[in-house]
Amino acid sequence: MRAGAPAPGDSSGTYLDAAATAPLRPEARAAMLAVLDAGQANPSSVHAPGHRARTVLAGARLAVATAFGARPADVVFTSGGTEANNLAIIGLALANPRGRHLVTTPIEHPSVLESCRYLERVFGFSLDTLAVDGDGRVDPAELARVVRSDTALVSIGLANGEVGTVQPMPELASIARDHGALVHTDAVQAAAALPIDFGGAWPGAHVDAITVASHKFGGPQGAGALLVGRGTPLEPLLHGGGQERGARSGTENVAAIAGFAAAVRASSASHGTQGLALARSRDDLVARVRAEIAGARLTGHPDERLPGHASFVVPGVSGESLLVALDAAGFAVSSGSACAAGKDEPSPVLLAMGIAPDLARTALRFTLPAPLEPGAIDRIVAVLAAEHQAALGIGATKLP
Ligand SMILES: Cc1ncc(COP(=O)(O)O)c(C=O)c1O
Repeated sequence: MRAGAPAPGDSSGTYLDAAATAPLRPEARAAMLAVLDAGQANPSSVHAPGHRARTVLAGARLAVATAFGARPADVVFTSGGTEANNLAIIGLALANPRGRHLVTTPIEHPSVLESCRYLERVFGFSLDTLAVDGDGRVDPAELARVVRSDTALVSIGLANGEVGTVQPMPELASIARDHGALVHTDAVQAAAALPIDFGGAWPGAHVDAITVASHKFGGPQGAGALLVGRGTPLEPLLHGGGQERGARSGTENVAAIAGFAAAVRASSASHGTQGLALARSRDDLVARVRAEIAGARLTGHPDERLPGHASFVVPGVSGESLLVALDAAGFAVSSGSACAAGKDEPSPVLLAMGIAPDLARTALRFTLPAPLEPGAIDRIVAVLAAEHQAALGIGATKLP
């Protein structure tokens, strides 16, 4: 499939915002409909319909575990990435008797940063935030300098959602583990593009918990999982009926979980080939934007980045205006900046990478769900060039 495929809910557009939510995969839709059409029942119920729901849940658990090199007992289904990150950070840190020190980075998703800040505020943890370089990478030597004998948890995202930079996770994780700290990685962005082996080498060997989210794979929103070894101490956030081996009480969302599992299965089946084609298409887009839009600069690491991520800053023109112009031309993209209450705030991720606030406000992010159709890059570059020239006043009629 090529992007140029219809945007969700829009038969004419090209959807290039997969990092926000990937288009629903037909396999996921079919799996969800099958559960809903069979008639819903509670997977904890003893009767036959309950047994059927339990069987669906067990199949989904096995599929998710298999895709990520985990055991079914390692999978705790949640309502998505945000909940899984909260559970990992708060749950692991509170359950770890080693101490009250946390390490993270300034470029994490808010669900990671706010969970750390919650522990700081309410439970008196101290927090070290590692610097990142201009490409958004953490220096392992910096982690080695900061990690302590009382560090309860190190949480570092496997790949950043805004700029696509992938961290040297095996190295970071083994430094943390050498100091006896628990390690969590938010793989919400990475897991749809990179092979994850929880029980094995990458980045699993020294990682205690991994967060994944359904809607980044083309599954439904509102489902996700924390992969966490059964023997790893974890304080639950949600208390109740003891579902998900006591780690997450509450009746499971069986249809969404079935869709999640189907999407994960379909996604991991096409990892290698799709990843290469995606990276080639992404590289073509990056090359054309850099060649034809004066001053446009790729943000994030040039090589160690997710295959579908192309993120830029474009001096002289706001990211929001580029986004709006592209949207009008049928391309759904993201500015990569957090817009709070109508305010165009520069992205904290770009600021942490040393990009000045004014330049950070020009951020634009394309995240490809599939390689681009021939001609799409021409049209994107034409829209950007027109908007850029208009913003710089080139060719505009000057009033007397
Ligand atoms: C890196 C990262 N972590 C966590 C999340 C939160 O996941 P969810 O939207 O499923 O709550 C996101 C969502 O964009 C993300 O990009």
